[in-house]
Amino acid sequence: PLVSTGELITAATAEGHALAAFNVITLEHAEATAAGAEEAGAPAVLQVSENAVTFHGGNVLAVAAAAAAVARASSAPLSLHLDHVVSVGLLHAAHEAGFSSVMFDASKMTYEENVGATAEAVRWGRQRGIWVEAELGRVGGKDGEAPLDAHAPGVRTDPREAAAYVADTGVDALAVAVGSSHAMTERTARLDHALIAELRAAVPVPLVLHGSSGVPDEEIRRAVAAGMVKINVGTALNTAFSGAVREYLDAHPAAVDPRKYLAPGRDAMAATVAHFLRTVG
Ligand code: G3H
Ligand code: ZN
Repeated sequence: PLVSTGELITAATAEGHALAAFNVITLEHAEATAAGAEEAGAPAVLQVSENAVTFHGGNVLAVAAAAAAVARASSAPLSLHLDHVVSVGLLHAAHEAGFSSVMFDASKMTYEENVGATAEAVRWGRQRGIWVEAELGRVGGKDGEAPLDAHAPGVRTDPREAAAYVADTGVDALAVAVGSSHAMTERTARLDHALIAELRAAVPVPLVLHGSSGVPDEEIRRAVAAGMVKINVGTALNTAFSGAVREYLDAHPAAVDPRKYLAPGRDAMAATVAHFLRTVG
C-alpha cells in the first residue's frame, strides 16, 4: 500500500531501526523497490529526485503517478518522497503530485540563506501535512561534482549549528554530512561515528544518511545503531541494474526487445534493495 513517509519514520524510530529510501528513475526502479521490499518483508521509501524529474522532461505528475500506482499495488508499505529539491516551483508541485515528504536541498547556500529558504519550505509543508527533510553541511558528489574533502571546514555538519538550524527552520528530519559522499561506486566510505553520536545528542529530529551506496554494510549498521533513521540509496541500485543489463546485452547482441534486458536489470536491483533493507532493519 501507499503510506506516508512520516508514519514510516515514526514506526522505524519507535522500533529502533532505520527506514531505507531508494532512488527511482524509471518505472522499473519503482517495481524493483517494491519487489525488494516484499522480499525483505520491510517498508521502504520510493524517492524521486529533482534530477529524475528533469530526466522525464519535468513531468513530475507522470513520475509520481507511476510510483504511487506501484506502491498501491504492492503488499509492502511504500511511501513517496521528492528528493533533493532545489526548485521552489517543483517543491510546490509536490503536494498535487502526491508526495507525502520532500527533501528541500539548500545545502549549496550560505548558512543564513539555507535557514531562510528551508524555514519557508517547512511553513509550506506544514500547511499541507508534508514532512520536510533538509541538509546541513555538504554531503557532496552530486551532479558529477568531485567528492568533497570530508575533512575540510564547513563540509561536515557541526552539532551546535545543527541544533540551531533545526530550531530555526522547524525541519522534520536532518540530512547530515558525516563522511559519506554521493555517487560512489565502491563501498569504501568511512563514517565519523563520534560525530554521529554528537549529532544524535544535539538534534531532536531524525537524522538522514545520504550517499549510502558508498558506505559498507557494517558502517551502515553502526550508524543505525547510533540513531541514523533514514538511509538513502541510489547509485548501488544503478550499478546492479546496469551490470545485469550489460551482461544480458553482451550475451545477446541481437536482442532488441527492452523487456528482455530490463527484466534482469530489475531483478538485480530488487536483490540489492532487499539487501539494504536487511542491513538497516
Ligand atoms: O538522496 C539520495 C541518496 O543520497 C543517494 O546517494 O546514490 O550515493 O547512494 P547514492
Ligand atoms: Zn542524497
